[in-house]
Amino acid sequence: MDDLLVRAARGEHTERPPVWMMRQAGRHIPEYREIREEYSFLEAIKTPAVAEEITLLPWEYYRPDGLVMFSDILTVLEPLGFSYHIESGVGPVVENPVDGPDDADRAVGDVREELEYVGALLRRLTERVGDETAIIGFAGGPFTLASYAVAGEPSRTHRPLRALRARHPDAFRALLDSFAEVVREYLQFQIDNGADVLQLFDTYAGELTTADYREFLLPLHQRILDGLDVPTIIFVRRMNGRLDLLEETGADVVSLDWTTEMATAREQLGETPVQGNLDPTALYGETDAVREQTREIIEAAGPEGHILNLGHGVHKDTPVDGVEAFVETAKDWQW
Ligand code: CP3
Repeated sequence: MDDLLVRAARGEHTERPPVWMMRQAGRHIPEYREIREEYSFLEAIKTPAVAEEITLLPWEYYRPDGLVMFSDILTVLEPLGFSYHIESGVGPVVENPVDGPDDADRAVGDVREELEYVGALLRRLTERVGDETAIIGFAGGPFTLASYAVAGEPSRTHRPLRALRARHPDAFRALLDSFAEVVREYLQFQIDNGADVLQLFDTYAGELTTADYREFLLPLHQRILDGLDVPTIIFVRRMNGRLDLLEETGADVVSLDWTTEMATAREQLGETPVQGNLDPTALYGETDAVREQTREIIEAAGPEGHILNLGHGVHKDTPVDGVEAFVETAKDWQW
């Protein structure tokens, strides 16, 4: 296999940085939009042949060094006792959100059984392209999942969940704990079915104060990641200036949003491998500008332990040209 991604995640010197993008398989690709005319989002992720086809779209376009399985962080909400759907123009909606502090630990279903469609997808991908590129699995972190489970809808400030923290800290802790248990098992399940690399997306956990992150989330991130025997990546937005906390999670790689200067991250993290971190909106610019900004990041990151990625997901109306320029800059690089 082309193991560039795995080698960089382990902190090794690579002749060029491996490259992939968060949300690389989504709405910016015309064929994705066509497939979505036929299948709802949930139908698409729950039908392995369709999810496989979507996962492979960026492979046809860009040949990245990793293919992130086409799924969603919210899949684990079902074994956790929540129903959800994606509402056009709104985003994820949870139909039976947490109903007060006494509803913070629902009976948990069998993850391997209920998410077998994800196992089937990973096996298909491994069979199809496992020799050519890394298969990237992922899960949402407890805070990000709980934000949807408590608010019932996207919340910019995550106020409902943070209010639970303030009013009922024990229920907040119990909720996050039960989510962490399931997430851990789900990630192990992904390894068992062929994932080469795993990313934990606790995107919104950076909303917490440093003290709260340290008290409530850090031990859970550590527990989730401990003992997984493929390289792991942690992504939390808004951690600029406190990257040391992400290093403490035990993840092999710290994924940076675009507000952190790559050179500064390197100073703060020493030899810990990093991922990132072009501003996703930079891809709207002229392709020469995309190339230039991408080269600056590669240059600042240096030849050891750097996975080139964006600072967050590809936006839905991103031009294919911009993405191409980004990927090609990594592929043309030589240290
Ligand atoms: O390449 C890929 O697309 C990989 C699969 C992937 C998706 N979502 C597909 C998706 C991954 C890794 C995610 C992660 C995810 N999902 C996160 C964490 C990372 C991040 O971006 O912060 C979060 C918070 C979610 C929850 C979620 N699911 C959101 C916010 C949305 C978008 C809602 C909207 O309408 O903008 C979804 C739905 C979703 N997940 C889509 C895709 C491609 C869009 C579905 C569609 O409209 O076709």
